Parts: sequence; C-alpha cells; structure tokens
Amino acid sequence: MSPASQQHGGRPPLVVKIGGAAGVDLDNVCADVAELARRGERVVVVNGGSDAGDGLLKALSMERPEATTASGNVVKLTNAATLRVLTMAWVGDVNKRAVVALLAKGVSGLGLCGADGRVLLARRRPPLKIQDGERTRIDREHLAGEITEVNTRLLGLLLEQGHVPVICPPAVTEDGTLVNVDADQAAASVATALGARALVMLSNVPGLLEDPKNPATLVRWSDDLGRAMELAGGRMRYKMEAARRALTGGVPVVHVSASRNPRPVLSALTGEAGTKLTLPQAVVDAGA
Ligand SMILES: Nc1ncnc2c1ncn2[C@@H]1O[C@H](COP(=O)(O)OP(=O)(O)OP(=O)(O)O)[C@@H](O)[C@H]1O
Ligand SMILES: [Mg+2]
Repeated sequence: MSPASQQHGGRPPLVVKIGGAAGVDLDNVCADVAELARRGERVVVVNGGSDAGDGLLKALSMERPEATTASGNVVKLTNAATLRVLTMAWVGDVNKRAVVALLAKGVSGLGLCGADGRVLLARRRPPLKIQDGERTRIDREHLAGEITEVNTRLLGLLLEQGHVPVICPPAVTEDGTLVNVDADQAAASVATALGARALVMLSNVPGLLEDPKNPATLVRWSDDLGRAMELAGGRMRYKMEAARRALTGGVPVVHVSASRNPRPVLSALTGEAGTKLTLPQAVVDAGA
C-alpha cells in the first residue's frame, strides 16, 4: 500500500513528538506546530506523558514496581489499575493540554489515544518472565504492547480537513484491550506509516549528548545508529531505538532537540539545533 501522503496528495506530513518528561515545554512546541500548520504544513503530533503519569500515580498513592526480566532488562510493570490512571494523565491531562494550546493559536487540534478510531493498533506482549532473586516468576497482568498498524486512512482524512491530529498512548489490541506503548515508538510507527518527510522529537535535553550531564557535548549529526545507541542511557535508548525504526522504515531524517528552543520544530528541521539522525548514504543509495 502506498503511504497515506501519496493517497491523499500533497507534501508528505511532518510528525512531531512532544516529550512527556519533566521540564518539556508543551506550549512552546504547540505554538511552533500551529505556525507551521497555518502555513499549510500537514503536521501530526504525538505526545508522551511519563511525568504527568508518575505524578498522578503518586497523588493517588499508587506505584509501578520495577522488575528485572529474565533477559536482564529493567521494566516498569503496568497492570490494569495503573494503566487506567496513566491513561487519565496521558489522555485527560497532557493530550488535552496540547489540543487546547493549538486551539489558542488558531489551529484545530484533534486528540486521539490509540483506541480512538483504532489509530494505534497493537499486539499485546506475552506474559513477562521476571527474575526475583533466585526465583523466576511469570507476570500475566503486565499490559504492554507493540504497535502493528496505524490507521493512516483516518489520519489522512483529518489532515485533509485541516485538523492537527494529536495522538498519545495507550494503544489498543484487536480485542479492545488498552496496552502501554512507548510514545517514541508510537511516533516512529506513525511517521513510518504516513511516509513522513521527517520525525522531530522534542524533549528536555538539547539532543543526543556524548555526556548526558554536559549539554555542551551535543552530537549535531550522526549516521551511526549503533554509536548513538552506545551513547544513550536510560530512556534515551528508547528514543534511539525509535529513531532507528523510523529511518529503516523509510523516514529520511529524525531530529532530536529541545522543546524550550525558540521555534523548536523549525530550528530542528533547519539543523540549527538538536541532533540530526540519518542512515548512512550508502544504505540510502542501496535502498533507492
Ligand atoms: N546520551 C544522552 N543524551 C541525552 N539524554 C540522555 C542520554 N542518556 C540518557 N538520557 C536521558 O534521556 C532523557 C530523555 O528521555 P525521556 O524518555 O525521559 O524523555 P521523553 O521521551 O521526552 O519523555 P516521554 O517518554 O514521557 O515522552 C533525558 O532527560 C536524559 O535524562
Ligand atoms: Mg521517552
């Protein structure tokens, strides 16, 4: 199937991911998205919500225990009760703040979690094998998924009507179960499915840093995703993995930059700010 950008004519859309980490300036990003949309650019926004989700869980005296999987990865466990609260924060709080921020700048934002119009369809991940000291136990409650399909038809219709879709986790399975998905991964899936001209990910750091504690060590450009993965720690690893997915899925360029920059989307796109990630030219040529 040809990408939605071709089905619906016009220039391929831009996908902008607004980070959900503490300190991300959502209003500043939305103002820039609105400016681009007013100039005729077709933009799809994806929002994360980790800080708002953690905050609401804490306010309700709930927590998501961390566990080490049998393969050695540390994951935050999600069950039906915690996912319900996280969904309230991601959809009810952050997503609606983005919609209202766009509206305040004269642009119609249309908020969708993965279940709305099945915009993010996912396969539920199998039960988790958890290492509990010497013992291994199986967690059958863990609700996490992997995106299998993006409803590009719906997104194409909304873009055609002049809306800016604002998408956020959770995603939904075929049988109607909400599942947690990483917002960077969601953004990569949306960008790939739409045949986006670029994916811009805005967060609380200037971009990929050689030393995460030193903003002066910004990597301006890289076509070496393996090296980028080595530099990334913690949750930045998900972002680099998402960048890799988008690039190998045909998105020509991924930018990682700071939400607080003046004109955060535009300055990333022009290369004035942030980290620009591409595939090596030889790989691009071979695929062309
Ligand atoms: N090499 C690195 N360069 C930059 N940031 C790094 C690096 N290694 C680890 N990080 C961490 O990655 C974090 C950004 O990822 P995080 O997932 O928290 O943000 P986000 O994607 O904007 O939020 P959300 O996942 O809620 O949408 C930074 O705040 C920083 O602490
Ligand atoms: Mg993230």
